Formats: sequence, structure tokens, C-alpha cells
Amino acid sequence: MAKLKKKEKNVKKNIKPIKTEKADEAKNFKVSKKTPQVLRGFKDILPGEQRYWDLLYAKVANLTTDYGFERIDLPLLEETSLFIRSVGKETDIVDKEMFSFVDRGNENVSLRPEATAQIARAYINHGMFNLPQPVKLYYLGPMFRYDRPQSGRYRQFYQFGVEVLGDKQPVLDAQIIIMAYNFLTSIGLPVNVQVNSIGCNNCRKEYKVQLVNFYKSQKHDLCEDCKERLPKNPLRLLDCKEEKCSAIKEDAPQIVDFLCDECKSHFMKVLEFLEELEIPYSLNSQLVRGLDYYTKTVFEIWPQAEQAALDKQPEPGAEDKKAQIALAGGGRYDNLVEILGGRPTPAVGFSIGLERVILKIKELNLAVPEKEKRDIFVAQLGESAKRKAMKLYETLRSEGFKVAECFAKDGLKNQLEVANKLGVKYTLILGQKELSEGTILLRDMDAGSQETLNFNKVVKDIKKRLEV
Ligand code: HAM
Repeated sequence: MAKLKKKEKNVKKNIKPIKTEKADEAKNFKVSKKTPQVLRGFKDILPGEQRYWDLLYAKVANLTTDYGFERIDLPLLEETSLFIRSVGKETDIVDKEMFSFVDRGNENVSLRPEATAQIARAYINHGMFNLPQPVKLYYLGPMFRYDRPQSGRYRQFYQFGVEVLGDKQPVLDAQIIIMAYNFLTSIGLPVNVQVNSIGCNNCRKEYKVQLVNFYKSQKHDLCEDCKERLPKNPLRLLDCKEEKCSAIKEDAPQIVDFLCDECKSHFMKVLEFLEELEIPYSLNSQLVRGLDYYTKTVFEIWPQAEQAALDKQPEPGAEDKKAQIALAGGGRYDNLVEILGGRPTPAVGFSIGLERVILKIKELNLAVPEKEKRDIFVAQLGESAKRKAMKLYETLRSEGFKVAECFAKDGLKNQLEVANKLGVKYTLILGQKELSEGTILLRDMDAGSQETLNFNKVVKDIKKRLEV
């Protein structure tokens, strides 16, 4: 425990904010007079986009219910040290991509770049080890990485993720992979699963020695980042997207050849489950993932067509392309809870990037449900009719009708245009004449015909016509 505390202190000492902007200094900012624009790599999700999100959220709700997961919502801001200790100091995410700053209380904090570390923190903080194990949680929300913005790569992006904590059996690794696979294929995306095992600390010891020896012999051909990373975190070199490093790694020793008996047997069992369920997968011995907390099984899910194209033409830039299109990533992280100060707790999970899924849905022109249609439009002409029409609108709504209106417009032509756009079946029109006669006009929008109804019986009448 004392050792752990000392380690924690050292880590904290080493944290340097990427940029410190004292809150008080904001007063001295030169305020731009230009219309503010959304930040690079961020985007507004406009109403026209929402049907894609509605579809994904509905799929999340179905899938997590089917597999017995419970939702957890975690803060967007955390102590920076949480991510340094879990994702790893030498990873791109922590080293180059965190939105970190010192807050007013002098705390070094970061916008979350991912949520697995938070889940492990929450598991410890809330004593979830006292619950029946495994604990099955899911989350949905924005993550932040100061990445180079491009198609499918944003600085704020949404992830749907699931995590199972408290059980080490390979069946859970397989089930996690199957869940991610089912989520994507249920939307209609043809995908391929890539799997690897990166073993445990024991088998990685010897592998790292061999890997360092291999890369040392190629050191002059490595990119500057890799040269620096080699002594600190050699596994990261397999993750490098630089063209020259990608070529070198083709000949690098493979971790699967170094797996201990337990890790080997675990991996074999995971693959057997996948085969039993006929999940198409390929083994990728170079898949190490860009986060330090993984042990044993790691996987990524890619769109099938792009994977095939990449397999055929591993040309310059292909690695970079690969990194952009992975739809999902995950794996086992048996040491993370302990690293953060909890009890030994094996765990496994995945996250899916929702913007990337939406990009693919659009690219493949997949069916997405339209917004639910409205049945009746309430139109009005004149101030007193507007008051009565508003009341009628509320009555219809509370009676369970799918009703629409545009009280902001006064002209009938404009209102009928809106009604047409919404594709309603009927429009009820209330003008001064109808008001004084105690009637209301019913317009059948498809037939273009109109009839006069008794205002007091309109709800009953419409109910009959629509069979509400
Ligand atoms: P990750 O591979 O860093 O893993 O991210 C998972 C997914 O998030 C990616 O496959 C991708 O779809 C999406 N993603 C990542 N970066 C961006 C970006 N800049 N713009 C858009 N989408 C992006 C994790 O985050 C781990 N926490 C996964 C995990 C859960 N492992 C175990 N449990």
C-alpha cells in the first residue's frame, strides 16, 4: 500500500498540464468581434441528423437490455492522473491528445479521452466489488481527444461502451466481442472482427526483450517517436502509423509465440466460442491497441469492405486509413482496477465510435427510420380562432392524437404548406366563420376534399376516423 502511495505521488509530481490558462487571465483576453464558430474537430448535431442518433440509441437500449447491462453516467472531467495511470503515459492518447488544464483549485484535470478508466475508478469508489460479480455496465456519451480532425476523427466524439468487471472467464471476452458484432450488424453494417492476445505481464516480459532486440537492430530506420518509445514502451512501436515503421513491424516477433500456457489456453477458448457462434474474425498478431491497460484478448471491428481493400493494397498511408475506420475496439484489462488501488478484478469491455457508425450508415445508404409522422394538423385564422385552436390542440394531444400546428403563422396557405410537409392525414381549420357557427373544417390532405364538422363532436369524430 505504501509502495502504491509513493508511486502515486511520483506520478502526480510528473503531471504537467499541456497548457495552463489561469481562470483570472481570461479577463485579459482580447475578445474577437467575429461571429463565434464551432471549434475545429467539434460539431453541432443538428435536428436533421437526429434520426441516426435515435436509431443508435434504440439499438443500445435493446442490446444492453438483452445482455443484462445497467447504465452508468460518468463525469466528463476527471483528475488527469487517472488517465496517466490507466491509459498510460507513453500512449498517443495521454501524451498528445488530452484536453488537460489546471482548474481554479489548482487541480490538474482532463476531459475524458475514454471511459474504461473511469469505470474502474467508479467500481472502486462505489465498492462495486461487494455486488454480485460480474458487474455489467454500459455508458453512452462524449469523449475528447485532441486528435488531427478528419473524416471519422473528431476532437469530441460519442462512444457507446460496455464493461464487465469481476470475472476472468474467456466466455465473457467472446460475449463482449459478439455484442459489439451484433450491434454493428443489426444496423446492417458488414464487419470483420480482428483479434489478438497480448498476454499477461509474465509472458510479455520475455516478448518485450525480444521486441527491443529486434527494433534495436532497425533503430536508424524508425521514426523519431518510436526511437524515443523503444526503451520506455516497446509494444507501442507495433501501433505506430508511420509508413517506415509499418514496414519494419511486418518482421517483428509476434506476441502469440510468447504466450504462457494460461494465456494461450484463454485465447484458444475465446476463439472456440467465436467459431461456435460463427463470428467472422481474423487473427492480427500486430494488434496491440493504443492503450496500456490491456491484458490477454484485444480486438477491433472494421467495416468489411475497407478491410478487404486494405488487405489487398498495403500501400503508403494505408495504416493511417486503418486507424480511422475501426468502428469498435476493446479487450480484457485484468490489472486496471488493481493499478488504480482496488482489489485484483479481472475485466473486459469494448467501445464503439458512434460518429463512425453513422458515417458508414450514410455511405452504404442503409435504412434509417423516418421521424414518426403526425396525423392531424390544427390550422387557425384570426385571433379568437387561434385561442380556441390552441385549446383544441391541447385536448387532441392529451387524448393521444399525434397532432401538429404552426401557431406562429397566420395565413392559411402557409399553414397548409407546413401540414403538407409533415405529411399529416387531416388538417382541422378553424376560422372566424366556423367559430361563430360552432363548426370546424376537416380537410383530407390526400384527397384534397373538405367537410364541415360540429366543433363539439370533433374529437369523437376524428377518433372514429383514425381509430385511436
Ligand atoms: P479506442 O479504440 O480508443 O478504445 O476507441 C474506441 C472507438 O472509439 C474507436 O474504435 C472509434 O470508433 C472511436 N474513436 C476513437 N477515437 C475517435 C476519434 N478521434 N473520433 C471519432 N471516433 C473515435 C477505447 O476507447 C477503449 N476505452 C475501449 C475499451 C472499452 N476497452 C475496454 N473497454
